[in-house]
Amino acid sequence: MGQSFFFSQRPQVRRFLLIQLVGALFWLSGVLLDMSASAALLPAILWSVTASLRWQAGRWWLVIHALFAPLVFFASQLDLAPGWYLLAFGISWLVFGHVASSGVPLYLSNRQALTWLSEQLPHGASFMDVGAGTGTVLAWLARTRPDLSLSGIEHAWLPWLIGKLRLSASVDWQRGDYRRVSFAGVDVLYAFLSPVPMLELWQKARQEMRAGSWFISNTFEVPGEEPDEIIELNDWKHGRLLLWRM
Ligand SMILES: C[S@@+](CC[C@H](N)C(=O)[O-])C[C@H]1O[C@@H](n2cnc3c(N)ncnc32)[C@H](O)[C@@H]1O
Repeated sequence: MGQSFFFSQRPQVRRFLLIQLVGALFWLSGVLLDMSASAALLPAILWSVTASLRWQAGRWWLVIHALFAPLVFFASQLDLAPGWYLLAFGISWLVFGHVASSGVPLYLSNRQALTWLSEQLPHGASFMDVGAGTGTVLAWLARTRPDLSLSGIEHAWLPWLIGKLRLSASVDWQRGDYRRVSFAGVDVLYAFLSPVPMLELWQKARQEMRAGSWFISNTFEVPGEEPDEIIELNDWKHGRLLLWRM
């Protein structure tokens, strides 16, 4: 069970938890060996940063590991009423509550991607944003491309609520899981998700979308599927739109 349980479907989150747990043991050992509580953070941080270099994909994990234990420690010194932690947890859950199961956090399409979409989408197309966040893409297209028929679906409550407040009634704005909606009438499917759901999403789109429709993924590839077109966004993160004609 050990290897398969911790390093299987959601490896990065499990590795993070495991590394931090061992880091906490380092900290505890330091305190038991008469180090001050803040000095004992040092071996814990050294361990977690080194372990993240070895076992986590992406350098941002290193930053998260370096900051996590000191932030927990200093927050515990602030003597805040427990209600504040509950509130912070509640807000985080409303925004990121599904991340552990979906593997997709919230971040938004940038101006370059939005501009390309508003300039290049076919006239009168029906456009769906799957995992639509706060409705950024749809709000932009509603303003710049009134000829499009727009829809979006988002499963996290708070981003969905923000979208609900900002989007006009002409946009079909749903709360729920895109895996449960049909893509049959969609001319352009847009996804800005993560590597985790791409293969499954591609297979669903392949089955349901009609010939000639477009599948656009912001940044994330579909394993084993070459896009028909790659649009470089020329932004700081070397973003790309990958376009498949179905
Ligand atoms: C990276 S954000 C992109 C937001 C928006 N599409 C944009 O480009 O600005 C991805 C969003 O997908 C949502 N999401 C992930 N899996 C989902 C699912 N199965 N059904 C609905 N929403 C999902 C997440 O909650 C997150 O808000």
